[in-house]
Amino acid sequence: MPDIFDVMAERRSIRKYLEEDVSERDLNIILEAACSAPSAGNLQAYDIVVVRDPTKRKLLAKASYNQTFMARAPVHLVFFSVPRRSARVYGPRGMELYSLQDATIAATFAMLAAHALGYGTCWVGAFDDNAVRGILDAPQDRRPVAIITIGRPGESGYRTSRMKMERFIFEDEYGRPFHHTKTMDKLIRPGCN
Ligand SMILES: Cc1cc2nc3c(=O)[nH]c(=O)nc-3n(C[C@H](O)[C@H](O)[C@H](O)COP(=O)(O)O)c2cc1C
Repeated sequence: MPDIFDVMAERRSIRKYLEEDVSERDLNIILEAACSAPSAGNLQAYDIVVVRDPTKRKLLAKASYNQTFMARAPVHLVFFSVPRRSARVYGPRGMELYSLQDATIAATFAMLAAHALGYGTCWVGAFDDNAVRGILDAPQDRRPVAIITIGRPGESGYRTSRMKMERFIFEDEYGRPFHHTKTMDKLIRPGCN
């Protein structure tokens, strides 16, 4: 199993998939990883819908403004925030912020776990919320936050660049650059250093 820095360094958005299923065992590990993520007050203000049905995957691709590549991934994990679950304890901050963060972190954990197991993933955020809710029969108070497509990679993806770190990482006050020293080569994306 690769270590976490290998996974972070090697993960790329993958938009081509082989016709091979995600094994039941691996899917369960990915979901366990998602549920191991931290959440505000440990309330886990998110729901996850595992979508394997080919017709629903096609509909989700359509609801994502025709991102047709999605349908070829054998598994979609749809992460919904559950604002009221967090609001019960944290009020408006839980409603507007923590529930989105809980869902986002869980999706990130799932994505990294999938890569550690040799799958390719893509984070899809561009979709029509109502259409996604409709396809999955989700209650109106659930907000779809991310669809993570998962499948065996049919491409290696490319190493995307990053902004120069001094542009957005500051020390002690906004605008004063943090002086970063390149330390782990494999994590350095083009342009960031
Ligand atoms: C919030 C969010 C929304 C995204 N939405 C989409 C999307 O709708 N479709 C897509 O193909 N990629 C989407 N991506 C993937 C990004 O394009 C990708 O992460 C970025 O270009 C960096 O490339 P990398 O993931 O290979 O490092 C999204 C990523 C994030 C984090």
